[in-house]
Amino acid sequence: MNIDKNKLPTHIAIIMDGNGRWAKSKGLTRQAGHKKGSETLINVVQQANELGIKYLTVFAFSTENWRRPKKEIDYLMNLASNMFNSHRNQFKKMNIKTNVIGDLTRLPYKLQEIVKDVMFRSKDRDGLVFTVALSYGSREEIVSTTKKIAMDIVNKEIDINELNEELFNSYLYTNSLPDVDLLIRTSGEKRISNFLLWQVSYSELYFTDVCWPDFSREEFYKAINFFAKNERRFGGLK
Ligand code: FPP
Repeated sequence: MNIDKNKLPTHIAIIMDGNGRWAKSKGLTRQAGHKKGSETLINVVQQANELGIKYLTVFAFSTENWRRPKKEIDYLMNLASNMFNSHRNQFKKMNIKTNVIGDLTRLPYKLQEIVKDVMFRSKDRDGLVFTVALSYGSREEIVSTTKKIAMDIVNKEIDINELNEELFNSYLYTNSLPDVDLLIRTSGEKRISNFLLWQVSYSELYFTDVCWPDFSREEFYKAINFFAKNERRFGGLK
């Protein structure tokens, strides 16, 4: 499948859904679904990097996912630690800058340390910016942003009349990222599910029935071609 490199989205965000259903359909455990999903994620990072996509942001664990059984939470936290640890060298060769967003204080201490370390070591790289949303919820992000702004107003760091969209944006977890151009969700669900609500205001939305573990290069290219076909006017006229 061909890709028009002149019409690539700058920032792609993905809701990686359907690991559990994929596993069930194959008579496997949910854990096996997440394991395969983490392999798909590494493939997609490589493909995005090869294409020259500048920003890739993925929803790996939501604030709502803390309600899952402890066994599944522990498995996902370990998977995240292993992913960051075992792909360090590969990401370095690919010049990838790794970023993690969310309420990181809720992550296991060991994972918090790994996250700090990978972010610090990769901070000066200028290749793909790979952002992993972990313990992330958009409403939580907006509330904590609002608190930080209120505190800065009380402390006279900023004046309330200075507050506009740009300044608000600069307080979000995603302050170093541009708005999302293309949001992909796998597994047939057509919802945003509390992911990047502010940042997807003008995104193209692409939904596919394919479950995340089966999201191949071809499926990724289909989503990018869908973006290339849509002309965006941001509320203006042609
Ligand atoms: C949704 O599938 C997926 C998740 C909650 C986790 C996504 C994690 C990965 C793709 C693996 C990489 C992991 C990390 C932590 C970096 P689901 O379990 O909700 O599937 P279902 O809706 O079919 O049950």
